[in-house]
Amino acid sequence: MCGIVGYIGKRDAQDVLLSGLRRLEYRGYDSAGIVTIDGSNQATLLRANGKVAELGKLVSTNQNKDSVGIGHTRWATHGEPSEINAHPHRAGDIYVVHNGIIENYKELKAELKDHTFVSGTDTEVLAALINSFYGVDTSLCDAVSKALQLVVGTYGIAVVSTRQPDEVVVARAGSPLIIGVGKDETLIASDASALIGHTSQAIYLNDGEMAICRRDGVELQDLNSQPISAQVETIEVDMQAIQKQGYDHFLLKEISEQPQTLRSTLNGRVIVEDKRIQLGGLNLTVEQLKDIEHVTIIGCGTAYYAGLLASYYLEQLVDNLTVEVVIASEFRYRSFYMPKNSVALVVSQSGETADTLACLREVKRRGVTTLGIINAVGSTIAREVDGGVYVHAGPEISVASTKAFTSQVAALTMFGVQVAQAKGVSVQRTAQYVEELALLPDEIEKVITTHQKEMAEVAKKYASYDHALFLGRDTLFPVALEGALKLKEISYIQAEGYATGELKHGPIALLDDRFFEVVLLMEGWLFDKSISGLSEINARGGHVLAITNSAKEIDAETVVRVDTKLDILAPIALNVLQQLFAYYIAVARGNDVDQPRNLAKSVTVE
Ligand code: AGP
Repeated sequence: MCGIVGYIGKRDAQDVLLSGLRRLEYRGYDSAGIVTIDGSNQATLLRANGKVAELGKLVSTNQNKDSVGIGHTRWATHGEPSEINAHPHRAGDIYVVHNGIIENYKELKAELKDHTFVSGTDTEVLAALINSFYGVDTSLCDAVSKALQLVVGTYGIAVVSTRQPDEVVVARAGSPLIIGVGKDETLIASDASALIGHTSQAIYLNDGEMAICRRDGVELQDLNSQPISAQVETIEVDMQAIQKQGYDHFLLKEISEQPQTLRSTLNGRVIVEDKRIQLGGLNLTVEQLKDIEHVTIIGCGTAYYAGLLASYYLEQLVDNLTVEVVIASEFRYRSFYMPKNSVALVVSQSGETADTLACLREVKRRGVTTLGIINAVGSTIAREVDGGVYVHAGPEISVASTKAFTSQVAALTMFGVQVAQAKGVSVQRTAQYVEELALLPDEIEKVITTHQKEMAEVAKKYASYDHALFLGRDTLFPVALEGALKLKEISYIQAEGYATGELKHGPIALLDDRFFEVVLLMEGWLFDKSISGLSEINARGGHVLAITNSAKEIDAETVVRVDTKLDILAPIALNVLQQLFAYYIAVARGNDVDQPRNLAKSVTVE
């Protein structure tokens, strides 16, 4: 998703802006641009279609010593990816970069007769609207606030003017903006990772707030120009966390660091000796936990699948608890009903996903208690839920979510045990979950160490296929869905996850030599039923990769067998093999593994 950077200070703005945009590349984009303003109020606007590296080439042949400017990486929403649609957009003396969507841009555009539009973007409309209020006696900040009063939609914006080159005006409604407070300099970014190395002090703008950023400080106000006191927080992310540290890709780094990130997720929360879980931050009393009768788990993509897997565990742990798992973008607009004593668990790695945020706000509007299962500290969703659990998996840079999924499942399972404890469920019934949670980091480490090379080899066998079917039963069904998503989003192989039992109800008609099938099987009561599904495929000339924790004989083209102490949580271990499988196939196909085409790391538009 789009990225915003801004700078005003003593240093070379072009360098600061470019390095900031490089930090934001992982979020996914298709064009980039910066504008800087010199001491004689002249602007240098540079924009390029494609990667930040292309913009860097432009800058190298248009270098200057300007010390104020803004920059942007664009993920096209209105208007195709092109230089002319790239931000910043100009209107008169002002330049604007914008994340979000101006929903009433057509109506606004129709009123802006004095501006000659050159792009197909809603952002240029916003620039023209601000400029229409920017009379000679009007400050830039006032022009921005007057314009934003007319806007319907979401935005995070940064605005500069050649007429007032000693300030950068920013504003936020629905798309994150962070202000980095430095010594005689101020930075702006849509993501904390762009501020690392410059400052650890940040102001997280809230919706409806704007600020005038100057070299000597920041002036916060609301859209009606009423002053707001600035709350400066410390950014917790460090430089090492956002670097590849010797790995070829962030994705392999993030798959490989799951033992450590799981330890961070579980640290202080799993009390093995007492066979107990203790989660701080829920902001719920034991009585309130005990009274919960219905849980709605909300998420998108991988976060949704993490919720789906955890829902089986919540049902297993607690009787008389109804659990539903919903796709945020669907649930938000349904005429849904949540019974009394409901709790909504809002799952999101970035904490900025617009669909999930919109759903959270609708659920809150109905008076339902909301708990976040979030990775990004200080993110919008994390700031708007009533309580929750940070999964502490560290920055997840690769667009494909891996370590966050694993930590989300662990955190949700811990929540389930905590509710069971509050409801008086016997220790005998919860103990195995606590023990296996404690085992998880070491068991995942063993899986990676033992099978990484094997999965790299297995991937070569299947990298040339164009279709895949992932199959799993019970707790392996959500894992099949997640495995299919991982493969499709980084390898571009058309992959579909299905419940094994559903194969005979339609999908089996698809199978021919264009397909390979991943069949997930777990030791236990559904193993034989899963073997039946596998046999149905074999009988039709399937190309089956069986992934299992069972030692039993399996007739399949390829079998990867995991030896693990995990039983209930074994699906998490099998999923790690799927992560490695997808990674090596994407590498074999020469794809941009960390920034797959058309995708963004956090989708901040609905
Ligand atoms: C997962 O690999 C995808 N990148 C995507 O489905 C992602 O899980 C989804 O956009 C939700 O993101 P969030 O967890 O940041 O809300």
